[in-house]
Amino acid sequence: MIAETDQRFPAQEEELTIVPMARQDLDRVVAIERQSFPTSWRREAYERELLNLNARYLVAKVGAEVVGYGGMWVIAPEAHITTLAVAPDNRRRGIGERLLTALLEAAEDMGASRVTLEVRESNAAARALYHKYGFEAVAYMRGYYPDTGEDAVVMWLNPAPPASQVNDDRASGESKHGPR
Ligand SMILES: CC(C)(COP(=O)(O)OP(=O)(O)OC[C@H]1O[C@@H](n2cnc3c(N)ncnc32)[C@H](O)[C@@H]1OP(=O)(O)O)[C@@H](O)C(=O)NCCC(=O)NCCS
Repeated sequence: MIAETDQRFPAQEEELTIVPMARQDLDRVVAIERQSFPTSWRREAYERELLNLNARYLVAKVGAEVVGYGGMWVIAPEAHITTLAVAPDNRRRGIGERLLTALLEAAEDMGASRVTLEVRESNAAARALYHKYGFEAVAYMRGYYPDTGEDAVVMWLNPAPPASQVNDDRASGESKHGPR
């Protein structure tokens, strides 16, 4: 899975690669983060995530340039996608899709058979991406995002028992960074 290349990425002269996120990627990650989310995670949050043994973070690169990233927590049999973003000038080129499929492959490698995430109700692009890969909306969390008061849509790939919605590990992890 790691360092795979994509023959289907024709718009760039240099190939797209998906590789593990490293500290030297964080300037770009934080810059893309600020362009992508109403409330952004700080650099320290990513530094912490890189030390988290239950986390896996990946970046998409065109040549040496980071153009997107995604991450998740895996506590088998569940994975929780925590973030996914592509730089605005690189969107609609299949990069988000490549990151998502790489995360799903990594989740499977780490023993997770179910994958969940939350997405803002208004985020049509992300919801369409997740839906394309089989995620289904199973619940709403009213007013989940404190910055706008917007609802979160809880999506799952493969059904999960209701108890997993209140899994203690997930809850403690979320409190570190706040919702996306
Ligand atoms: C969501 C996001 C990661 C998608 O990345 P991307 O590289 O532009 O997406 P892709 O080009 O791989 O598109 C894959 C699929 O996603 C969906 N999609 C992506 N952008 C879309 C848009 N603007 N409108 C509708 N559907 C869209 C489509 O289903 C698309 O498949 P298709 O090309 O066959 O139509 C990107 O828009 C982004 O970074 N948004 C800001 C951050 C964010 O909202 N992250 C998600 C947090 S939950």
